Amino acid sequence: MWTYFNPVKIEFGAGRFKDLPSLIGGRSYAVVTYPDTPFQALTQKLSETAGKPVLVFDDIAPNPDYRVLDAQTARFRGVAGGPEVIVAIGGGSVIDSAKVFAAANGDFQKVRRYLETKDGAEELSGVPVIAVPTTAGTGSEVTSWATVWDGEGGRKFSLARPNLYPETAVIDPALMLGKPYNLTLATGLDALSHALESIWNINANPMSARYAVTASQIILRDLPSLLSDLGNLDLRSNIAEAALCAGLAFSNTRTAIAHNLSYPITLGWGVPHGIACSFTLPTVLKSVIGTGGFREDCLKEIFGQDLEKAAEDLSAFLKTSGVGISFADYGVPNDSCAAIIDEAFAGERGKNFIGSKESFLKSAALDGILNDNRPQLVP
Ligand SMILES: NC(=O)c1ccc[n+]([C@@H]2O[C@H](COP(=O)([O-])OP(=O)(O)OC[C@H]3O[C@@H](n4cnc5c(N)ncnc54)[C@H](O)[C@@H]3O)[C@@H](O)[C@H]2O)c1
Ligand SMILES: [Fe+2]
Repeated sequence: MWTYFNPVKIEFGAGRFKDLPSLIGGRSYAVVTYPDTPFQALTQKLSETAGKPVLVFDDIAPNPDYRVLDAQTARFRGVAGGPEVIVAIGGGSVIDSAKVFAAANGDFQKVRRYLETKDGAEELSGVPVIAVPTTAGTGSEVTSWATVWDGEGGRKFSLARPNLYPETAVIDPALMLGKPYNLTLATGLDALSHALESIWNINANPMSARYAVTASQIILRDLPSLLSDLGNLDLRSNIAEAALCAGLAFSNTRTAIAHNLSYPITLGWGVPHGIACSFTLPTVLKSVIGTGGFREDCLKEIFGQDLEKAAEDLSAFLKTSGVGISFADYGVPNDSCAAIIDEAFAGERGKNFIGSKESFLKSAALDGILNDNRPQLVP
């Protein structure tokens, strides 16, 4: 027996940005986006076709953090009645910030209290969000949670509420054409990580697994080609579709051990999320060989029967793309690794993982990812 649920309406295709005015449908709206010029231009274009927004947040920085969110959220109070809908134009940081604004409705302390104590859920709002992802990675356009960082406190939270699923996801691959190599790589790997993490997950079900297999197959097939042809709209569309499928997969399972290993590495060593949550994938893959059942069948459907070789091939792909596969490649010293691994396995996402710490450590030792015999990185 299993249940699959996802309520997000999906509008997909190059040029779909133009459909936003009808999706806003005359409601008063806020725009959430980055400060960079292309995003200012998109906000301008939307204002011309959908009428002026009542509020514009155009200062979203990567990895939404407590301090910034507190000040940004307060701006909601300046709009009588608040905006009726929030339009998020950007990657995970923008969509997650929009979800925080939607839940806080002008008072960040309500969100903070809920994150830290799990009390006060009934006080959180759910202003509708229209998510327009400009990266193909996080899947936040189809999940009901937002990652909230507390850099000062060295903590990461997940704001998860059923009413934070976006109302609509408008996925327009043409908006992704300007992504540079490193961002295309990191976000593509984030999506691969979501797909694989939803398979080696106690919450996997046949439907999440179908989405995950499709997502992984497309990424492994098309991400290398896209990395050498960044302006190719067909490849951008395929990777956007794969990231969406990965989002639909992990929207029902959440992530697992590779993500839990990543958070302290992003917080402590500034490694972008998509890299931090994917450099351990070959080792995690190796560690679940022999666990059997439909999950291992899915991995074989993606990678072929020889999963040992698949893990080696994945490592080789990461290395040739410029991604280090050892903790030392990111400056994480050996003595920090033990604590990171212990905490990752003890945490909520670690408990979603079907494998064991012993098996992970065995694979990690074989792969040499814990000591300093670093592979040569391709510049
Ligand atoms: N809610 C979820 O389910 C979920 C899942 C995974 C990750 N996350 C979170 O999402 C964040 C990462 O999001 P992200 O990887 O999408 O990146 P991001 O939103 O942090 O953006 C990173 C950079 O990419 C630039 N950028 C974005 N789109 C661009 C485009 N089309 N062209 C050129 N530049 C562009 C931005 O200006 C920004 O500087 C992290 O905080 C992570 O923890 C959330
Ligand atoms: Fe992720």
